[in-house]
Amino acid sequence: MKRITFSVSLLLFVIISNAQIQQSLSYYANKCQSLKIGAAVGSNFYTVYDNGDVYNQTIQNNFNILVAENEMKFDAMEPQKGVFNFAKADKLVAYAQKYGMQVRGHTLCWHSQLPSWLTNGTFTRSSLQAVLKNHITTIVTRYKGKVQQWDVVNEPFNDSGGTLRASIWQQVIGNDYIDSAFVWAHCADPDAELYLNDYSTEMYGGTKANAMYNHVKSMKDRKIPVTGVGFQCHFTVNTIDFGKLDQNIKRYASAGLDVIITELDIRIAVADYNADRTKWLAYQAEDYRRMIRSCLDNPNCKTFVTWGFTDKYSWIPNFTNNVSGYALIFDNSYIPKPAYTSILNELATESVKTKVETVVENPEIKLEFSPNKVLVETDRLINQCQLFNVKGEKVFSSPVTNNFIEIPVNNLQRGIYILNIRLENGLMIFRKFIINN
Ligand code: G3I
Repeated sequence: MKRITFSVSLLLFVIISNAQIQQSLSYYANKCQSLKIGAAVGSNFYTVYDNGDVYNQTIQNNFNILVAENEMKFDAMEPQKGVFNFAKADKLVAYAQKYGMQVRGHTLCWHSQLPSWLTNGTFTRSSLQAVLKNHITTIVTRYKGKVQQWDVVNEPFNDSGGTLRASIWQQVIGNDYIDSAFVWAHCADPDAELYLNDYSTEMYGGTKANAMYNHVKSMKDRKIPVTGVGFQCHFTVNTIDFGKLDQNIKRYASAGLDVIITELDIRIAVADYNADRTKWLAYQAEDYRRMIRSCLDNPNCKTFVTWGFTDKYSWIPNFTNNVSGYALIFDNSYIPKPAYTSILNELATESVKTKVETVVENPEIKLEFSPNKVLVETDRLINQCQLFNVKGEKVFSSPVTNNFIEIPVNNLQRGIYILNIRLENGLMIFRKFIINN
């Protein structure tokens, strides 16, 4: 009898754990055009390294990308000149590989958390360039193909005035230290995504936001290998201007640049929390929901990372002298908060929406994919538009008198489709794509 009870409990445990994993953030994110969803892990990660406890379970169930909160910064990686300490970074990378996750490298060049040999040293432009080049080349080469994204330069802008921060790098090397850092990182791993990461740069129109945009756009124009920008997003509940955030993400898209969410947390004032925690957790949940939605609605936002995941280890209480806290999506006991559920629901909703991917390109036909419909556009006037499935059956047909047409695709089954367009001059053009309903 005892044995049967044990077996039933074990079975229930397996079913429940599988159900939990199936409903996790990464489970749905993987179905949303491979969205990367992740968190920063700090010293506790190394304390409980891969021991299967709730900290590890929470990570493994929910995330497909990780970042070190402190352990890959300059002081941790190169404590003495030319002497590198890879131990913790290696551990993080091995863990991520074991569980099929990606890694963000944070950060190669920053004004903070520098070792004393650097801050107390005397350097010329060329000797400091050599230090930075060696640092970047050594680290990026070691993790080539294993760290997919790098915050190459972190927080290079002043909080006001739209100018570059007077860091040791900017003061001794000059403003071109940023260009050089990206080129060195790219030479070490040409496949890595390279980001410039900063805070208070999220909202369109702000002086610092404009400074970041202009700088990175100029880098891109000058063919410096930059993938895009990281918006840190250290926010306060109920204060986020989602319209401006969306506008800002879109202007980077127009410039061919990605925007990723790198350090999101949404703090709540402790006094508010104590007065009415249900209300403030609901506000926070709505903010998190709209944050993930901002990312899902913009194809150039493919990574969404929170700065920690449990309130137990968040940097916010310490940083704000305990005036604010409760900023993350799991509480102190790893219980998912309303914010977690709101992200999960938004991802689940997104994951069942129509997805379309191109099989055969045709530069003459531009396609814009949005949930449930495809906008077809050409440079010339269209006469007729038809859509066929692989069996050759016509699933859509319409005369057109413009250079664009919208095709509803929500009722179509998953599969390959061929789009035939007859232009006004009689020419036929076509494009093939997959619908993933
Ligand atoms: O390593 C020492 C340890 O030896 C000592 O006993 C202990 C005593 O306080 O301090 C430890 O260092 C602390 C370090 O975190 C590691 O825990 C530093 O004092 C502390 O200042 C440091 O704070 C980190 C901060 O960056 C440093 O600027 C936070 O944990 C980390 O969350 C924060 O992360 C930054 C991002 O890198 C960039 N964007 C902003 C974000 C939040 O500030």
